[in-house]
Amino acid sequence: MINAPYGLLAELTHKCPLHCLYCSNPLALRPREEELGTEDWLRVIREAAELGVLQVHFSGGEPLLRNDLEELIAEADRCELYTNLITSGLGLTERRAKGLVAAGLNSAQLSIQGDNPESTALIADSKRFDKKAEAAGIIRESGLPLNMNVVLHRLNLDRLDAIIDVCDSWGAERLELANTQYYGWGLRNREVLMPSREQLARGEEVYRRRKEELADRMELLWILPDYYERYPKPCMGGWAHSSFTVAPDGMAYPCPVAADIDSLKFPSVRTAALEWIWMESPAFQAFRGTDWMPDPCRSCSRKEIDFGGCRCQAFALTGDAARTDPVCVHSPDHHLISDAVERANSDTPAPEPVFRR
Ligand code: SF4
Ligand code: FES
Repeated sequence: MINAPYGLLAELTHKCPLHCLYCSNPLALRPREEELGTEDWLRVIREAAELGVLQVHFSGGEPLLRNDLEELIAEADRCELYTNLITSGLGLTERRAKGLVAAGLNSAQLSIQGDNPESTALIADSKRFDKKAEAAGIIRESGLPLNMNVVLHRLNLDRLDAIIDVCDSWGAERLELANTQYYGWGLRNREVLMPSREQLARGEEVYRRRKEELADRMELLWILPDYYERYPKPCMGGWAHSSFTVAPDGMAYPCPVAADIDSLKFPSVRTAALEWIWMESPAFQAFRGTDWMPDPCRSCSRKEIDFGGCRCQAFALTGDAARTDPVCVHSPDHHLISDAVERANSDTPAPEPVFRR
C-alpha cells in the first residue's frame, strides 16, 4: 500500500549567496533560466494538497531570491498547508518578513555555519555573519518561532558550546545539530570535513550537557554522523515513503539528493501530474518497500527499520543505487566507509577545501 506523502520540499532556486563546503544539493545545479515559473509552482502546491501533503518546506539555494515567494506561501496557506521557510537569512528584511507572515508563513529555519564571522568565511566563503544575526532578530520580531540549524564537521565541532551560546542568545527555540552527510558537493570535501572519533565524542558530550541545561527554553537535536554508526539511517523514512522534492527545474525526486542517480529516469511536474509521479512513476517505485532489496538486506531482521539505508549514498559510493548502504557493517562495500573513517583518524593531512561555485 502506498501512503499519501506528508511533506513537499519545494526547492525554488539553486542560486545561493553562500558557497558551503558541505552543500548537499546535487552536483549539477539548475540555472535560473530553467526554473519553474510562478503558475507552475502554484499548480504544484495545489496538486500536493490534493495528494494529501500537509507541510511545504520552501528551500533552495536561497528561496528569498524568488520574488514570488509570498504568492506561493499564500497559495499553500489557502490550501491549508503548514509552511516553513529554510533560509540562510541573507536578504531577509523586516519588510520582507512582514510580507511572508502576512502571506501565511508558519515557521522559519535559519542556518549558521558557526559562532562567528570567521567560521562563516571558512565554511561558506561569506563575510555576512552579521546578516544572520540580523535575520534571527527579524524572524523573532515577526512573531515566528526561530528554528536554527548548523551542520557540524571537523572545522566547527570543537566550538559547539559557543555555537549553542550564539543560538541561545539569538532566542532560538529549536536547534538542529546536523552532523555532515557526505552527499553532492559535501562528498568532494569529505576529507576536509570528517571529524575524528574523539572530536565527535567530545561534541556529543557537549550536546548532552547543553540539552539538559537548556531544556526549559531550547530544544536541541543531534543528527547522527552515520559514518560512525554500525547501521545506516532509515533515510527519508524509506524511498518515496512520506515526502518528496520538486527541484527548481520541476524535476520530482523522492529526496533532495536523488538527482545524481543517473540510472533512474525521474519525472517532471512540467509533464506529469503529481499523483501519477507519487503513485506510479517508475523512479518513485524503484526502491519502495523491501522487494527491491539485495542480500544482505533481503534476509535481514532490520530491513523494515532502516530500509537498507540511503539510496543516494549507495549510488554515490558504489555507482549502484540498489546496493546495501555501505554504512552498514554487513554491506560488502563497508570498507568504503571504514577506510574513510580510518583516514579521518590518522595523521594524513586533509586536502584543500573546495567551495561550491
Ligand atoms: Fe539495514 Fe540492510 Fe544492513 Fe540489514 S543488511 S542492517 S537491512 S542496511
Ligand atoms: Fe536520497 Fe538518502 S539522501 S535516499
